[in-house]
Amino acid sequence: MALCNIFHSWRSYLKRVTQRKEKLHHVTSNETPAIPAVSVVSTGTQYPSNRMGPEGLAEIAFKHYADSPALQKTLEINAKSRIEERYSAIPRSHPLWHQPNTPSIADCDEIFKKYGIPLAEEAAKKALAEWGGSPGDITHIVAVTCTNTSNPGFESFLSQRLGFGKSVQRTLLHGVGCAGGVAALRTANELLLGAAHQDKPARALVVACEIPSIFIRRELEDLVKEQRPNVGLTLFGDCASAMVLSNGIGIKESERAPLWNILNSQTTQVENSGGCLEYNVGPSGYLAVISKDVPKHVKSSLPSGFEGLITSTKSLRESPSSFDPTTYDWALHPGGYGILALGQQVLGLSTHHLRKSYEVYTKRGNSSSSTVLSIMDKLAHEDEKCGTRRDKLIAAAFGPGITMEMVVLTKA
Ligand SMILES: CC(C)(COP(=O)(O)OP(=O)(O)OC[C@H]1O[C@@H](n2cnc3c(N)ncnc32)[C@H](O)[C@@H]1OP(=O)(O)O)[C@@H](O)C(=O)NCCC(=O)NCCS
Repeated sequence: MALCNIFHSWRSYLKRVTQRKEKLHHVTSNETPAIPAVSVVSTGTQYPSNRMGPEGLAEIAFKHYADSPALQKTLEINAKSRIEERYSAIPRSHPLWHQPNTPSIADCDEIFKKYGIPLAEEAAKKALAEWGGSPGDITHIVAVTCTNTSNPGFESFLSQRLGFGKSVQRTLLHGVGCAGGVAALRTANELLLGAAHQDKPARALVVACEIPSIFIRRELEDLVKEQRPNVGLTLFGDCASAMVLSNGIGIKESERAPLWNILNSQTTQVENSGGCLEYNVGPSGYLAVISKDVPKHVKSSLPSGFEGLITSTKSLRESPSSFDPTTYDWALHPGGYGILALGQQVLGLSTHHLRKSYEVYTKRGNSSSSTVLSIMDKLAHEDEKCGTRRDKLIAAAFGPGITMEMVVLTKA
């Protein structure tokens, strides 16, 4: 009899916990019927261990090239970038840094597979461990990189290494550059909402993996040949970041309660910005085109982009305070220090609103698509006692095109 009572109270406890978790997956609003929300349940980031301080770029450059005006200008920008350290997945003993010739695109592909995929695996494992579910329950993988173009894509190798099912739905985004992390979040949200409308349980691994340091040699070669300063050389560092998203259907006991619910997303092609931001492939890897006009386009499009996002978000647009950017925390992609400072200024934010964007930029640089997910990882693990945190969060990034990607989330 006593055993039977224990069993019944345990079952009713489990039921209450499950109901609480399911409730958290629904956006609280006065809209009827309740919209199933897709949630970010866990996050994970992995930076590689090979540190590259501000002096690192000059060391590599002078190993292969004599001084020149374009190199001096680039090193000057590098010294003022306000990035304290960046990291490369490629060990300093690797031939890439020492060989006289620049690598071929085939060498670059090999390097990405050798060093990039394990980095992505580590980031993904962190997110999966925090989520608490079983790899076999992952139904979707939405991956992004702009530093590899192999077929099959890296998400295929990753999926096998992580023990996902053979029918996991794979989506690999390319051509989205630094906006890729937010674009992946937007894509995963749409896919999981689609599954929810079919009443299917869905869990997505979102993963961004970028190894731009593979292309330092190619970018230096171009700089010296064309005598054109290269800002990209002063900003980029390697990183992989991941998240697990859930559509809240069929929650299992082991799964962690969600962190944020995704309210809405938006992608915008910035007018008259063609040619300003590109990442073009050549015989020995990618070459970044970052024009001096990028900040001008950020300034003109960020406030209107934010307003458009809130106006199209049903659960926010009725409240005038939702149109105040200061009522959100911001994970703004740190394209460069100038982008953060400008974003802060045009949106009327404090450095506190952008605290993790500044921190990630200063301590790790710009890691393209994986950066925003890394900033969100930092926000997710932030000590709640360390000052004001807002319930709502905007993730925003600018990528090639120029394309602006935004996602608005609310604390679950
Ligand atoms: C690169 C950066 C961090 C340098 O910071 P800073 O030294 O405070 O910035 P400044 O704007 O004063 O520029 C310093 C010098 O770099 C040059 N410079 C800036 N952006 C440049 C670019 N995209 N291409 C070439 N040179 C550039 C400036 O002309 C200036 O040179 P000058 O002293 O001869 O006039 C900052 O300019 C920045 O964040 N730029 C935006 C980067 C960007 O667009 N990123 C998007 C990638 S996703």
